[in-house]
Amino acid sequence: MSNIGSYEERLKNFDWSIAEKELGYKDGDNINIGWYCSDRICQFGKADKLALIWEGLGGKEKQYTFNDVRLRSNTIASFLKDLGIQTGERVCLFMDKIPELYIGFLGILKLGAVAQPLFSAFGDESLHVRLDNAETTAIITQRKHVSKVRKILEKMPYLKHIILVDYDGSKPLREREIAFNMDEAEQVENFVVAPTKAESHSVLHYTSGTTGQPKGVKHVHYSLISQYLTTKWVLDLRDDDIYWCTADPGWVTGTSYGIIGPWSLGITQCVLDTGFSAESWYKFIEKRKVTMWYSAPTAIRSLMKAGEDLIKQFDLSSLRHLASVGEPLNAEAVIWSEKVFKKPFLDTYWQTETGSMMLTNYPGMKIKPGSMGKPFPGITATVLDTKTYEPINETGKPGLIGFKPGWPAMMRTYWRNEETYQKKFENNWYLPGDRAYIDNDGYYWFIGRDDDVINTGGHLVSPFEVESALLEHEAVAESAVVAKPDDVNMEVVKAFVTLKPGFIADDDMELKIMNFIRKKLSPLAMPQEIEYRDSLPKTRSGKIMRRVLHAEEWGEEIGDISTLEDD
Ligand code: PRX
Repeated sequence: MSNIGSYEERLKNFDWSIAEKELGYKDGDNINIGWYCSDRICQFGKADKLALIWEGLGGKEKQYTFNDVRLRSNTIASFLKDLGIQTGERVCLFMDKIPELYIGFLGILKLGAVAQPLFSAFGDESLHVRLDNAETTAIITQRKHVSKVRKILEKMPYLKHIILVDYDGSKPLREREIAFNMDEAEQVENFVVAPTKAESHSVLHYTSGTTGQPKGVKHVHYSLISQYLTTKWVLDLRDDDIYWCTADPGWVTGTSYGIIGPWSLGITQCVLDTGFSAESWYKFIEKRKVTMWYSAPTAIRSLMKAGEDLIKQFDLSSLRHLASVGEPLNAEAVIWSEKVFKKPFLDTYWQTETGSMMLTNYPGMKIKPGSMGKPFPGITATVLDTKTYEPINETGKPGLIGFKPGWPAMMRTYWRNEETYQKKFENNWYLPGDRAYIDNDGYYWFIGRDDDVINTGGHLVSPFEVESALLEHEAVAESAVVAKPDDVNMEVVKAFVTLKPGFIADDDMELKIMNFIRKKLSPLAMPQEIEYRDSLPKTRSGKIMRRVLHAEEWGEEIGDISTLEDD
């Protein structure tokens, strides 16, 4: 029997107080995610249970019990406190998937500060705009990433501390840098956890939009309520599970379901901090006896590509339950997983702003491959008419996904950008910015995004950010960035550029520009192709029309081009 039992039964009389009761929380109590994920689990007699099994390059391994996590997160919290970091200040985590990232996250929360995780592959410019927007006080990082921080240090007077978790003394520390070794520091047995309340700010994740700079998504400690219950009912985690969430905590999946969900349930999780290869992933599942695996469509499609013969070389019989998130999970991938793993990947749909799963498939419920499933109990979802924003009460008819605001993990605002936050609502519905339709059985089917944001391998990339970065290259005069279809990543970034006089449009230049973006922004944002043009399609008022280029790439009708400038 699964944790959820019957989805239909759970819908009846659902109330979030189910999770509150299980967590021993009452309205008005203190609620601190850091405490819930460590101290509370130890109080339940699980102090010696493994919380984290970590594996890095070359088979390097580290293990931490819940008591180790409790002590180390206390120690980090206390270290930050001694530096003078105050409640509500932003502390950035800028690391690979090392234990310090997972445990540091809890430490920041225990102090009552705000955890701002950023993907460690971000280049200096991506890093700078996010630290600048958040006016981050401290950044916890590794030697291998510190040069990116040093490069932009002068522009960040608010950044007082750069904490190096792997400082080895070989070179002197520079301005504002300080060393902290999580395992070797004297462990703090008792730390007075900040008396955070439901609405206290907990996490600041950055997400990309179509226009403007990335937006900081403000989450609060009360998000735990949804994250706990969705983990329990959808990921179906049980006490003896070995859970593997492949997402990086630089992104929301890696925090909501790679830290908070499993640890608030006292579940052992494992982390593989190496790049992707089908072989190493299967080896990891076999070695760690992974039972629950939460991954992403791009990874699944890459595994499909690697072929079934490879799978036969491993014993993957420990796998009990599988789920996926981040981009459309195509029906073939679900059917394939049923064939090779003997169980389907359950698709789950949500986003940084929602903080927890919204539309998902459930253990025990009939799976329709290709569908995102149904709303989580407590979530009122619909599909809205694109003009009136009234629910479309017709099955099969496409519209905008809409959610009634108010679930516990919903973002509270965009950081210092309430105006953009307000634009996410119409007619009292929260609009995630995606299109879908609902079938006769109430299942949701994803159609596409309602904006130009590129979803490459489950990661959102803003065309605006890439276009702006391209313009900083000495050779680029104009740029337009769109998604290009891709077998594995569904979409990749493609740039159209015009060059300034005197620069040669050849392969060498293409490579130079690609590298420029990779370093400045990230490997994800790097265009996989650059097409040179003599001019870019523009409106009569001079605005570049991405839409025309996008339609060309996807072989679609261009639509209304009456505003297009004549050549
Ligand atoms: O467009 C949807 C797509 O990813 C967006 C959210 O991205 P992000 O905030 O980075 O969070 C990703 C992980 C939660 C959504 O607005 N998306 C997410 N899940 C699915 C999806 N598209 C189709 N099917 C999904 N299951």
